[in-house]
Amino acid sequence: MRLAAATLALLLASACTTIPAAPPAAQGAAMVSPILTTPEARDTSTYAQPEVARVTHVALDLALDFQGKQVGGTAVLDILARPNAKTIVLDSDGLRIARITDEAGRELPFRVGAADDEKGAPLTIEIGQARRITIAYQANPQAGALQWLAPEQTAGGRHPFLLSQGQAILNRSWIPTQDSPGIRQTWEARITAPKPLDVVMSGISQGEPEDLGDRRAFRFKMDKPVPPYLIAIAAGDIDFRALGPRTGVWTEPAMLDRAAAELVDTEAMVTAAEALYGPYRWGRYDMIVLPPAFPYGGMENPVMTFLTPTFIAGDRSLTGLVAHELAHSWSGNLVTNSNWRDSWLNEGVTSYFEGRITEEIYGKERAEQEEALSFATVEDVLAEVGRDDPGTALHQPDGVESAGSEIVYDKGAAFLRTVEHIVGRQRFDAWLRSWFDRHAFQPATSQMLLEDMEQNLVRGDAALASRLKLREWIFEPGLPDNVVRPDPQAFAEVDAAVEAYKAGGTIPSGAWSGWTTAERQRFLKSVPDDRSAQQLAAVDTALGLSGTGNNEVLFLWLELAMQNRYEPAVPQVERFLSTVGRTKFVRPLFEALMGEGEWGQPIARRIYAGTRAGYHAVTQAAVDKVVNGEG
Ligand code: BES
Ligand code: ZN
Repeated sequence: MRLAAATLALLLASACTTIPAAPPAAQGAAMVSPILTTPEARDTSTYAQPEVARVTHVALDLALDFQGKQVGGTAVLDILARPNAKTIVLDSDGLRIARITDEAGRELPFRVGAADDEKGAPLTIEIGQARRITIAYQANPQAGALQWLAPEQTAGGRHPFLLSQGQAILNRSWIPTQDSPGIRQTWEARITAPKPLDVVMSGISQGEPEDLGDRRAFRFKMDKPVPPYLIAIAAGDIDFRALGPRTGVWTEPAMLDRAAAELVDTEAMVTAAEALYGPYRWGRYDMIVLPPAFPYGGMENPVMTFLTPTFIAGDRSLTGLVAHELAHSWSGNLVTNSNWRDSWLNEGVTSYFEGRITEEIYGKERAEQEEALSFATVEDVLAEVGRDDPGTALHQPDGVESAGSEIVYDKGAAFLRTVEHIVGRQRFDAWLRSWFDRHAFQPATSQMLLEDMEQNLVRGDAALASRLKLREWIFEPGLPDNVVRPDPQAFAEVDAAVEAYKAGGTIPSGAWSGWTTAERQRFLKSVPDDRSAQQLAAVDTALGLSGTGNNEVLFLWLELAMQNRYEPAVPQVERFLSTVGRTKFVRPLFEALMGEGEWGQPIARRIYAGTRAGYHAVTQAAVDKVVNGEG
């Protein structure tokens, strides 16, 4: 098979920064997405050399083995390469490669290089003229992306469960490909699983499963090029319920009613998002509500957002999470950070977009409160690490560690709110929509966003440019002085209640029941952590904290309790940590305990000894650092 000359010419271009989209590849892959070749776009987390040879399509044929905790089978990769390319380099982490063959079934020599703790190992294959290769392999039972849950970790308690988490660089532990956000690939999969389990993936389901006796085969297809961190799988005893014409939810049968009720606004959110920033381009928007061991709140896997069940509060007060993952269908999945040092392009833009969806669906007041909560975390981090800490810049310079998600998410959102405020909402929205259109299905960098804003928003208006301070916002640490702060009135009542509590121990028992979740969070985040057991007991009783069904509120209460060595809350902390694996909750609770010396540290160690095995590798790694002082 020969590649179109034009395709090769484009692939080899080195003078231009963006390699334009090539014509369809010879094998009929839907679309070959361009790659970026500027130094600032380079991904240091991949071994791939995409300018020499790159993967354009992945076809998986895998069997799920719940007993052996193994995923294995074949991956067929379509390759676009220079005519003289001798090898292709893939990412791999713990994969056991049986053999690699070309189109004619001839074995191709390969080698797995030295493994790095984070990046895994390069898998270098001598492709010669081969442009479609088949890799027969098995993932390690310890694969970092995969979490095999015991039946006890599910709501039903009878069947095992499998879930994956690819972002940022975990998918190389179960898929041998070029695992870089700037190397987009289309994909398809055939997955077999034992009955009665169902399988879902982040691609469009290709009809009813095929019956194989005691197993079934499920097929999926993603015909739009995606960064490979967005390939995801889950399998378990799950059912589906439609929410709207193109939206629906999968979850365990015992969870279906509660999940569907919490998610009733989803279809309206998709419609609102489209009205803001253009068509939803992925077809369906389904979600799966996973067992509580899932390490994140949510993950924006295309056409199948993964969600923690801990967002279910019974009153839709935590559905900003859904708005967030949905918004990633534009910021992140459509326009993707080319490397993880620019992850604010995914998360910051999405946090801004989330706020806009929240405003449309739940109104300005809720949006402003959530914005104020978010902005306060930026100020906290800046106060903690210092305004000149290089890790507080949106674009993370090479070798500089991020000052935290508050920068990427919350400072990122504050930047866009500031630009919106200065240029006006209408003009800003038109620009953001056009940014998504101009870069759809392509990688992007901070530099590109800056240039795009200058060209299409500033348009040579020097006075506007100096008011916006775009470069400072994107590349400098701290907070530019043009920042638009949230309305100080957003939490006026709560802040007064905090002062009253600080001054005389007055508990806002009456007001509390009328407060929103954001107001309750604000209160619990602001009360001082030097309380006596007696005071804490009074707060708990008056506000019903330990009995709340809202996990964000419960988490803040348990954290406060541990920071105050409040013994009566320890059993509940232990129960919480035994079921919930969401890093955002688990790590701070262990941190709170570890911060309490000879009182808290033995408790933390004892609890962690019992709960560690039930956590995803992501959560384990985060808590290991806290409890065992590793890293
Ligand atoms: N894409 C992220 C999750 C993620 C980030 C995974 C970085 C791996 C590395 C997801 O969209 C997210 O931001 N989730 C948040 C939700 C929130 C900000 C509403 C979470 O899990 O808490
Ligand atoms: Zn996100």
